[in-house]
Amino acid sequence: MQMSQCIWTSHEMLGPFRFGPSIQRNFSKSIRRSAGDSRSRATSYPSFMAAISTGSTQHAAVSTEDDSTTKTHQPLQVAKRLEKFKTTIFTQMSMLAIKHGAINLGQGFPNFDGPEFVKEAAIQAIKDGKNQYARGYGVPDLNSAVASRFKKDTGLEVDPEKEVTVTSGCTEAIAATMLGLINNSDEVILFAPFYDSYEATLSMAGAKIKCITLRPPDFSVPIDELKSAISKNTRAILINTPHNPTGKMFTREELNVIASLCIENDVLVFTDEVYDKLSFEMDHISMASLPGMYERTVTMNSLGKTFSLTGWKIGWAIAPPHLTWGLRQAHSFLTFATCTPMQYAAAAALRAPESYYEELKRDYGAKKAILVEGLKAVGFKVFPSSGTYFVVVDHTPFGLKDDIAFCEYLIKEIGVVAIPTSVFYLNPEDGKNLVRFTFCKDEGTLRSAVKRMKEKLLLRN
Ligand SMILES: Cc1ncc(COP(=O)(O)O)c(C=O)c1O
Repeated sequence: MQMSQCIWTSHEMLGPFRFGPSIQRNFSKSIRRSAGDSRSRATSYPSFMAAISTGSTQHAAVSTEDDSTTKTHQPLQVAKRLEKFKTTIFTQMSMLAIKHGAINLGQGFPNFDGPEFVKEAAIQAIKDGKNQYARGYGVPDLNSAVASRFKKDTGLEVDPEKEVTVTSGCTEAIAATMLGLINNSDEVILFAPFYDSYEATLSMAGAKIKCITLRPPDFSVPIDELKSAISKNTRAILINTPHNPTGKMFTREELNVIASLCIENDVLVFTDEVYDKLSFEMDHISMASLPGMYERTVTMNSLGKTFSLTGWKIGWAIAPPHLTWGLRQAHSFLTFATCTPMQYAAAAALRAPESYYEELKRDYGAKKAILVEGLKAVGFKVFPSSGTYFVVVDHTPFGLKDDIAFCEYLIKEIGVVAIPTSVFYLNPEDGKNLVRFTFCKDEGTLRSAVKRMKEKLLLRN
């Protein structure tokens, strides 16, 4: 099997995930073995390079056996600030999943399509000739729709022209925020486990990361650790609620404590709220809506999860003008503007009636029940997930040595894909007992996955 494309970043929306060097080494080794393996010719390289040895123009310097007589092997190159992020093994994992016919409850994107009215709006915009560069910070219609939605959700009135910036997905909102507002050596506090683009983007911004680990069963914020992590060099705290991968939602009490620490110490908050409409057990609270916080908060969001259109990559950042200035500076030189017709369609999406959001929650509630009940029946210890379309479980009852070994076993022997959570931690050890499943799949797929696990996954402890 040949890889047609290099998947170079480690973003979830692209599918890949990142392993620390030792984890990557072990997992890739076993995948190479089991793949049997037409890529053994690439074994002089780390295994991730095998995936980029064909079809990638970007990395065409890496030769295959076929062309080794004409090309010399050249070491892959990457700037120091991204060196540690080059080990993505998603392609190998996908290959393994395909080889074993595994049901994919790993990747966080729906296997069903977004709503017709939004797709129609995109087609209409294309036909109407809305196809040239958009205004850099968003087409006016979308900026207004984002501002109106934010008002409905938070009660806050923001100026669509001065406080809303449309980006290429939340991923770009994250990058523009970090690159536009963080200086070299500024400290930024992260809560692990965390969405992988945070660490890479902070690294590009030259930030120093201070990481605080949220621990099961409730993944609550260790307030004392947070207090002692804040210093005079702390520029920002990054939060994600509802939280990928745990499904935790930050409580009002936690947000209040974080808010007062930020005000006291003059610290910014960057808040990733892409799962805000997937809150099941409690109401989502936006940090920006807390007293005194709007002035120091960048709220980042996108269309993908709420409208099951993860491939459209329309996102936005909402922030007061003095913070919008910095993030727009970065946005101008990252992408300048975002896909024009999709912005018009996104505006139509955000004007959906409330019934759309209610139905979305109802649907996901049913899917969640199938997966959670199923996982419990299989014998997992399932941690409560209040929001997102993820659920984290303890895999140790099944006797595998760590999350990587468990996921490998699950793919090969059971035929189901889950995500090892160690990829979400600075210290992979912290995630070794946990794996993440997603329920953003149709009900038939979820039931089939549960059935496979019930039939074949045997408790060993
Ligand atoms: C927490 C979190 N933030 C951001 C993103 C990326 O969002 P987008 O696809 O809009 O760039 C994801 C995607 O999985 C995510 O889980």
